[in-house]
Amino acid sequence: MNNWPDWLPLRENLRSLSPYGAPQIGEVLQLNTNENPFPLPAEVQEKIVSRVQEVAASLNRYPDRDAVRLRAKLAQYINYRAGTQFSVENIWAANGSNEILQTLFLAFGGAQRKALGFTPSYSVHPLIANVTGTTWIAGLREDDFAINSKAAAEQILDEKPSLVFITTPNNPSGTATPILDIEKLAVAAGEVGALLIVDEAYAEFSAEESAATLIVKFPHVVSTRTMSKAFAFAGVRVGYLVAHPIVIDAALVTRLPYHLSALTQAAAEVAIDDADLLQGGIDLLLGERENLASGLATLGWRALDSSANFLLFSGFSGTSAATWQEFLNRGVLIRDVGLEGYLRVTVGTPAENQRFLTVAQEIAQ
Ligand SMILES: Cc1ncc(COP(=O)(O)O)c(C=O)c1O
Repeated sequence: MNNWPDWLPLRENLRSLSPYGAPQIGEVLQLNTNENPFPLPAEVQEKIVSRVQEVAASLNRYPDRDAVRLRAKLAQYINYRAGTQFSVENIWAANGSNEILQTLFLAFGGAQRKALGFTPSYSVHPLIANVTGTTWIAGLREDDFAINSKAAAEQILDEKPSLVFITTPNNPSGTATPILDIEKLAVAAGEVGALLIVDEAYAEFSAEESAATLIVKFPHVVSTRTMSKAFAFAGVRVGYLVAHPIVIDAALVTRLPYHLSALTQAAAEVAIDDADLLQGGIDLLLGERENLASGLATLGWRALDSSANFLLFSGFSGTSAATWQEFLNRGVLIRDVGLEGYLRVTVGTPAENQRFLTVAQEIAQ
C-alpha cells in the first residue's frame, strides 16, 4: 500500500514502501522461500513437545532475557561447524536472523550513516537500511554474480560506510565468496572503521570456511546465521549473531527486553542438541540441487552454480514475471527476485523437484 492518507504521520522515508514478503499461497508446491522441505524427524518433534510441556509450567514468568543456555548451545554448535572457540559472550540470538540484522542496523546504522552491500543480494538488507534511515549504497557484483574483491575493497575505501554486507552463499545467486576475498574486504572495512557483516544464512550448504573464523583476527567482522534453513526450523524463528563480545554488547543496547520467548528458547535448545539429525537431509538436498541443474540444462535453460539450497536459473523465453505466472498456474510457486531473465527455485524433496522439472518442461515446449 503506497497511497497512505495525509492524516497518517508515517515517516517520509517509509511512504513509498509496502510490507516485505513473498506470497504465501496454500495448495501449491512452495519452492519460493528457501525453506528446508523435510519436516523435523518425529523423535525431535516429540522431544520439543515434552520440553515445551515442562516450560509451560512457568510461562507466567518472563523468559531468560539473555537466553544464556541457548547461546551456550549455539556457541558449541558454531565451534563444531567452524572449528572456532567461542563461548556465550560471542553469541546473540533473536527471532530469525532478520531480527539480528535489524539489531545491527539500529546499533550501527541510522541517519548520517551508510551501509554498503554487493547486489543483487538479500533485499532485506536495503529494506532495513531504509527503515532505520541508513543510506544504502548498492555495490556491484560481476556478471557471474561473484564479488570482485579488489573493486569491492576500493568501493569500501571510497564510500566509508559504517556497515558492509556480504551474503555468502549469496541469495539469490547461490554464489559463495571465498574466505580469502572476505578477508580482503575485512581489511578495507577495518581501515574505514566499518563493521563487516557476513550473512551466512546458507552456510551449512556450502563447503567454504565460515567468516566466523576471521573474528579472532578482525573483531569488526561478524557472522549472522539462522536455524531457518539447514536446521529445518523456519517456523520457530531463531537466528543468531557470532561476533566479538564488544560487538555483541553494543548490539544489545538496541534489543527489546525479553524479545525471545521461553517457548522459542526451549524448542531451539532441543533442536541444537539434535543438529545432526535435523541436518541429515543436507546431502540429499545437495544431490537434488545437481539433479535440478542438469534437468534444467536438458531444456536448454541454465542454472548458476549454487552453494546453497536454491538455484537461480535463466534461459526461458518469456519474461520473468510471465514465466513465474506460468509456473504458478501449474501449481508451482517459485520466486521472481526482480532480476529480468532469471527466476529462483528452492530445492525441494525429490518428488517436488520432479514436479518442478515436469512443469518446466511443459513451459519450455
Ligand atoms: C541471505 C538471508 N539472510 C537472512 C535470511 C533471514 O532468515 P531468518 O530471518 O529466517 O533467519 C534469509 C531468508 O531467506 C536470507 O536469504
